[in-house]
Amino acid sequence: MCGIVGYTGKEQAAPILLDGLSRLEYRGYDSAGVAVCPEGGGSLCVHKAKGRLKVLCDLLDGGAAVKGTVGVGHTRWATHGAPSDENSHPQVSRSGKIAVVHNGIIENYGELKDFLQGQGVPFTSETDTEVVAQLVEYFQRDGADLLTAVGRCLRRIEGAYALGIVSADAPGQLIAARKDSPLILGYGEGCSFLASDVTAILRFTRRVSYMDDGEVAVLTEEGIACYDHLMQPVEKEICRVDWEIDAAEKGGYEHFMFKEIMEQPEALRRAVFPRIREGEVFLEDFTLPEEYLRSMRSIHIVACGSSYHVGVVGKYHLEQMLRLPVEVTLASEFRYMDPIVDQRTLVIVISQSGETLDSMAALREARRRGAKILSIVNVAGSSIARESDQVLYTWAGPEIAVATTKAYSTQLAVLNLLGLHMSRVLGSMAAEERRAVLEDFRTLPEKLEKVLANRDGVQYYASQYFNRESVFYIGRNVDYALGLEGSLKLKEISYVHSEAYASGELKHGTISLIEPGTLVVALGTCLRLFDKAMSNILEVRTRGGDVLALTTESRAADMAKNANGVIAIPDAHPMLLPLLGVAPLQLFAYYAALMRGCDIDRPRNLAKSVTVE
Ligand code: M6R
Repeated sequence: MCGIVGYTGKEQAAPILLDGLSRLEYRGYDSAGVAVCPEGGGSLCVHKAKGRLKVLCDLLDGGAAVKGTVGVGHTRWATHGAPSDENSHPQVSRSGKIAVVHNGIIENYGELKDFLQGQGVPFTSETDTEVVAQLVEYFQRDGADLLTAVGRCLRRIEGAYALGIVSADAPGQLIAARKDSPLILGYGEGCSFLASDVTAILRFTRRVSYMDDGEVAVLTEEGIACYDHLMQPVEKEICRVDWEIDAAEKGGYEHFMFKEIMEQPEALRRAVFPRIREGEVFLEDFTLPEEYLRSMRSIHIVACGSSYHVGVVGKYHLEQMLRLPVEVTLASEFRYMDPIVDQRTLVIVISQSGETLDSMAALREARRRGAKILSIVNVAGSSIARESDQVLYTWAGPEIAVATTKAYSTQLAVLNLLGLHMSRVLGSMAAEERRAVLEDFRTLPEKLEKVLANRDGVQYYASQYFNRESVFYIGRNVDYALGLEGSLKLKEISYVHSEAYASGELKHGTISLIEPGTLVVALGTCLRLFDKAMSNILEVRTRGGDVLALTTESRAADMAKNANGVIAIPDAHPMLLPLLGVAPLQLFAYYAALMRGCDIDRPRNLAKSVTVE
């Protein structure tokens, strides 16, 4: 959740660290800090500030105020200890000679702190991270070098961590260590980098390797040496990142979220078009054998947040295409629920970042039970991608806004393509039907462009309703699933209370909440259930609620008879309608948040990648 960056080379480190942190701020933004080894030796220069990165940048004159060519930086999303200067990272050891930045949670920090305090070590913060700095220093008391002391420390700590460590006594050196939290090594000309996310170092190098759990690396300007948990040297594969640097910039847009909403047609072209060949689905590097697919008895989708919502749509679609039972479970529940999963279950993990801790833990639990794992992931080389039997990338490009948009639509498109592919292998869907969906997939980006071009209508409705206290999203079948996503988008960025319900459930309790002034967003894209949607809308109107409805162009006039307002999307194959329907919901949330003056790309209490439990 926090962002980490580290540099060692010939250039001044602080401006590079601050630049990297500016690209990581979406991961955590309650405080920031840097530690730099000063030129010519002496104590570390450590600067930290509560609040947005700008506070630190101003304090350090954009980095010009700190001299030194080796350092680490951090943006924080607080877990242990409230946001404050003291609790910000880097955390330093008692002597001030060792500085540590950390993403994750040291679970046994209490016990270690007791031990160190018993040895007379004073603590200055409430963080779990400070024990790492103090412990490394403690393990150097016999003169051990930095790497040896870090190795000893890692054997004592439990939990999840991505660590960047510098020492005033080891100038030129940067140590990185990883367990259950992403860390990337970057290879430059006469310099080396570490980062929690490739976007932080993309300006400086495209050559990276991904650290594996248990690995420790020593970075110097000459290069990077990596070791496994037994401190045996490891040869890392160096990959080239082909993301465009511009893709991680705002490019003239006011917010990343808006930019990423508008990028969806292009992202869908990238995710879908290369995968349709001669009227059939073509999945690159698909190695799950057809015999295995035929032996499958069930599918279990696990994910968190919006990725979970993709799974809920996917359940409806996959069951229809495959006539196999499909379960969809929140990853945070799956891992502790004794799931019924075995060799004949395909577990599909969906994750934009590929680093979500709960999804990762669910993946491992499923594997332990013998399931095959297929993941749908955006970030290449991420942990979930690397631990899966089969990966399908969404190719959405970097997604920076905390509120996911283009990742949702590309995940859903890829899940549909996967279903179509499996339906051919299983013979569970008529070929003509499959071709009809694929044919419509070709026109999908254009139709989505039309939806986005009509955004003024959505903006108008947002201006009418942005100050409502409560908003309910209702729908049946995939419209219910779509409502879950619409509701999450609204609450996470605009802080308006909102809930999603299956329309049929209204009368089982929720309808008591409908009163004059309540806004209900009624989703009616599932046209075979259109009449039911109309009845539910009337029930809401009868009780004084306002209804903003979403349906297809062909049914918009009918819908307008019952609803206060209607947003229309182009008609398409039913399987593709959620891909068109989600865009107005994203825009509605965006405009509502804008009108409420919210910090859209950095909503309160959230972070982009949730790498703690
Ligand atoms: O990276 P992941 O897809 O695994 O992330 C899962 C959720 O944290 C994520 O979808 C979250 O719900 C988004 N902020 C929603 O906009």
